[in-house]
Amino acid sequence: MSISLELSQLRQEYTRHELDEKMVHLSPTHQFSIWFNEALDSQILEPNAFTLSTVDLDGFPTARVLLLKELSETGFVFYTNYESAKGKEIEKNPYGAMTFLWLELQRQVRIKGSVSKVKRETSGEYFKSRPFESQLGAWVSPQSKIIPNRAFLDEKIQKYQQKYSSSENIPLPDHWGGYVLNPTEMEFWQGRMGRLHDRIRYRLNGPQDWIIERLAP
Ligand SMILES: Cc1cc2nc3c(=O)[nH]c(=O)nc-3n(C[C@H](O)[C@H](O)[C@H](O)COP(=O)(O)O)c2cc1C
Repeated sequence: MSISLELSQLRQEYTRHELDEKMVHLSPTHQFSIWFNEALDSQILEPNAFTLSTVDLDGFPTARVLLLKELSETGFVFYTNYESAKGKEIEKNPYGAMTFLWLELQRQVRIKGSVSKVKRETSGEYFKSRPFESQLGAWVSPQSKIIPNRAFLDEKIQKYQQKYSSSENIPLPDHWGGYVLNPTEMEFWQGRMGRLHDRIRYRLNGPQDWIIERLAP
């Protein structure tokens, strides 16, 4: 079965917005907040979903979707299992790239930077704010490991439900917490007519000093 012919007929013109290097904010994280708020306002499903790319232990690129939970002073914060595949990859090579796609706005944001763990207390506070089921999930799932079947998870959930009766007494697992990606490069892509899209890139030149350049689409 082939789908290539049908796919090649899919063609969308991008005409909704423009992006000009003279109009963007001097700080890329501020510019990100403007676009993120517009994504929120436009009722996009999961506007905080992004693709995190890392490099695996054999040097291959690898990518998966995660949810952004905070934009802090130090950067873009997400939460996961520190012993997962991505956790091990970040430990070995503490760099990553994030890609946000807001198709309804014909926008993409690419972010590159170094990745480090957030403070333990920050992870603790966030963990407390999660629903009990998600807190249990963090205990139960040995993320990225091979498991025998679904029952393995169901049995572990029951065990932890008995151990911790509610959100009040469930502790933050050692293997779980946040990472922050501190950006050194960010690119804002706005779809335009005839594939001549706007691409505005910020490059870090020194503390708080960003070089803003336009790239060819
Ligand atoms: C919309 C969406 C949101 C997700 N959010 C997270 C998240 O915030 N944290 C997380 O660990 N995994 C999240 N996942 C699952 C990851 O994509 C991935 O399966 C998991 O983190 C294991 O990745 P790894 O084996 O590369 O470490 C999400 C998946 C989807 C589709």
